[in-house]
Amino acid sequence: MREITECLKEEHRALEESLDALEAAIASGSGLAECVSRAAARAREHYRREAAFLDRLGQYEPELAAKLRAQHEEACEMAEHFEQAREAEQIGDMCALARRFHAIAQHNLIEEERDGFPLAVRCFTNREQRELIDTLAEAGLGTKTPSRRAGDSR
Ligand SMILES: [Fe+2]
Repeated sequence: MREITECLKEEHRALEESLDALEAAIASGSGLAECVSRAAARAREHYRREAAFLDRLGQYEPELAAKLRAQHEEACEMAEHFEQAREAEQIGDMCALARRFHAIAQHNLIEEERDGFPLAVRCFTNREQRELIDTLAEAGLGTKTPSRRAGDSR
């Protein structure tokens, strides 16, 4: 059976691509607004889909789940502040906020995969796994778009 953490890791790789593009934009100073906007949209969507997983994780490890949720909120806040700075044409703030957004979103991926996912693999029952995978599919992705190749009938 596929594990929920595998589905979420696939989403993480997609988000990481946007974060890498953002890192390049920060370094070069060009295309920053587009890259933040793309990465933030992807992050928001992923966080929305990951919410049920964090709720379940919170039943086993409430502090860790709360910390990861707070990181999601902080990343979204940074992206909002970035938009406000962009509208006000505050270039210095935009750069700082883009860096902050990148750092927190990247850190969150690392911490989830290092601490949250192994814990979920150990703790979640098969039924919990199935329910979360169903929830993810209902949320409009996860099990539908991943890298399932032709001939892979699992
Ligand atoms: Fe995540």
